[in-house]
Amino acid sequence: MTIKNITVLGSGIMGHGIAQVSAMAGYKVFLRDIEQVFLDKAMEKIKWSLQKLTEKNKITSENAVTIYNNITPVIDLKKATENTDLIIEAVPEDFKLKEKVYGELNEIVKNEVIFASNTSTLPITELSKLTNHPENFIGVHFFNPPQLMKLVEVIPGKDTDKQVVDELTRFVHSIDKNPVICKKDVSGFIVNRIFIPLVHEALHSMDRDKVSMDVIDSAVKFKLNFPMGIFELADYTGLDVIYKASYEMSLRDKHVLLMHPRIKELYEGNQLGQKTGKGFYEYKKENYERVNLTEEKAAQYEPLSIVGVAANNAAWLVENEVCTLEDLNLALSLGMGLKTGIFDLVRKLSPSRVLENLKSLGEQQEFYHPNKYIENFK
Ligand code: CAA
Repeated sequence: MTIKNITVLGSGIMGHGIAQVSAMAGYKVFLRDIEQVFLDKAMEKIKWSLQKLTEKNKITSENAVTIYNNITPVIDLKKATENTDLIIEAVPEDFKLKEKVYGELNEIVKNEVIFASNTSTLPITELSKLTNHPENFIGVHFFNPPQLMKLVEVIPGKDTDKQVVDELTRFVHSIDKNPVICKKDVSGFIVNRIFIPLVHEALHSMDRDKVSMDVIDSAVKFKLNFPMGIFELADYTGLDVIYKASYEMSLRDKHVLLMHPRIKELYEGNQLGQKTGKGFYEYKKENYERVNLTEEKAAQYEPLSIVGVAANNAAWLVENEVCTLEDLNLALSLGMGLKTGIFDLVRKLSPSRVLENLKSLGEQQEFYHPNKYIENFK
């Protein structure tokens, strides 16, 4: 089959971006949400983003108009899906909600349509069973902001047809993104298995080491060369996404992260980060804002446990053949903008210090026990 028409379900941060990048590649896109106000906000964000890309000469202003017109915002699910070849579901990370959405789709969608979920953490095989055709179901995980991040994780479920994997991989290339196949349907897939636990670790380190958020973030940015600090990135991603991802990941795998209660507090207090004007930091505008991080602040902190926790989870992914080390580093570079491979970060800080730190933390909490790969790391 050839994909021409796409339906994106959910017009939030990820949904509107996925609709935009698909329209930029020439696809006709129906962007569906349940209320007009959500769609209006999404189309405003698309307009803002296209304007930014025009200012930077990435597209012409004529292109911007064509792209914008390739996206039809719609509430009616039947209309949104009647001629579709591919449905990308990007509704909030709630299994019950997804169950409801797939239930509705089962009633109205043609048999051969591919269902792709942009879930960041829910198991693809479990989601596929909510549909009439698990063989046509696949995970297709974009990164925020989809307009700028080049990675898409492609996650086949247990029953996904090989042709669907190939078709989706072609689609990802066609929208000018790099697919990385996540070979096992594990909690957090590849990138979130590294990123989400780091948000919790940054909080634990703040408590333990008595340093401020912006000091930790500055060290992460200037010593580890991350494009954003961890707290800054969490705010940018949204504390609702971080909380739900943390919850789902630890529900299925007790060892993947060490939960810190502050995430739940922020979520329950509707302090969701940039989108609500307050999360870990405070923000003045909604579209895109950066935190002031400096090299002077970076000098006050050694991010040993940040690197240790990331390296432990990275070793787990490679050891369990979820991906190769090469794919892991590619995914982290294209999905989180990391300039240095995870184990090169260990080398940069000193393998023996990272190991000693994990061992000493491991005396209190089993979570930190170094993976045997780290134990033998030179
Ligand atoms: N469309 C178009 N332009 C955009 C944009 C968008 N959606 N968002 C931001 N921009 C613009 C900004 O406005 C800014 O423009 P100006 O130069 O005119 O100010 C420009 O892009 C970015 O410039 P910066 O110098 O601020 O930023 P940068 O060089 O650091 O790049 C970035 C920005 C690509 C976001 C980079 O900081 C980065 O890679 N950050 C990490 C993002 C990340 O890790 N994402 C993954 C999160 S995890 C996830 O998404 C998965 C999940 O399931 C939770």
